[in-house]
Amino acid sequence: MKAKARAHTNIALIKYWGKADKALKLPLMSSISMTLDAFYTETEFEHDPKISESSFYLNDVKQSPAQSQRVFDYINELQKKYNLDPNENFEIHSYNHVPTSAGLASSASAFAALAACFAKSYQLDLDKTQLSRLARLGSGSATRSIFGGFVEWIKGDNDLNSYAQALNEHPDWDLHMLAVEVNTKQKKISSSKGMELAQHSNYYQDWLKQNDSEIQAMKSAISNHDFSTLGQISENSANEMHAMNLTANPGFTYFEPDTISLINLVHELRNSGIECYYTIDAGPNVKILCTLRNSKKIISAIHNLLGNVKIVNAGFGPGIEYLD
Ligand code: DP6
Repeated sequence: MKAKARAHTNIALIKYWGKADKALKLPLMSSISMTLDAFYTETEFEHDPKISESSFYLNDVKQSPAQSQRVFDYINELQKKYNLDPNENFEIHSYNHVPTSAGLASSASAFAALAACFAKSYQLDLDKTQLSRLARLGSGSATRSIFGGFVEWIKGDNDLNSYAQALNEHPDWDLHMLAVEVNTKQKKISSSKGMELAQHSNYYQDWLKQNDSEIQAMKSAISNHDFSTLGQISENSANEMHAMNLTANPGFTYFEPDTISLINLVHELRNSGIECYYTIDAGPNVKILCTLRNSKKIISAIHNLLGNVKIVNAGFGPGIEYLD
């Protein structure tokens, strides 16, 4: 049996940055994201007793055993979870429409697409809540990529109650995100490792205490179409996450000189009346929230500052889609 699915990537406006349970990927905080239209992964999963050896192809390139390990472990975990034959082999073909040059993480869209086509190929008949729990076992941020628009991942405290829900799948809102490439090299510290280190910051427990009120404030901003509050909370959440990294022991940062230049540019643009806000994940690249109306001016200011860097202008993307 085989199935094919497409999932779009998402960028957290309120960050997930810490696990309560590593195996189940239960987060220490709830998070809120925006699913993007410009970046997605399409995956086909086939299982068949006739397949002699399991394989994983990414953009038509067969991945080595080491490169396939995380994906194979994930599929084996799901086969066990649903009492499926663990010896049945499978073949996965995945296409990442996440321009590598944009430096955007693809694990969110990758594991959301994989969870969906796995479930369909085994006719598990899961609803979207269950699918988001399945995606979570692959990568935390994938939990949110099952839905489109604005999405909340409710942290929960066990496998059943940690899942995503749509806040508004089709926002009628002129909100865009500019993904600016600063560096496309593989990050030095993986998200998993980074969040583990950050938990050693003296400020981490205090940061966690604010999570509920940040989530509530963001939900109000979303339902009120309040861009200023949404942008400010997003920027704060990113700053808080990166402050945890700087104050961890040992401290570290994903920022590079151009990351700081872009932060300063966003402040300057805002002071000059062009409203925009930044958010930054586990890497040096900067994403800028703005209205489509202002995006041209912001793009030209970035090019003036950094030369011909790659910038992708993304709007709201949809939730999981089955293909064929
Ligand atoms: C900074 O989802 O990549 O993008 O659960 O270990 O796979 P794992 O981590 P991952 O972490 C994402 C971290 C982040 C913030 C976010 O997406 O909420």
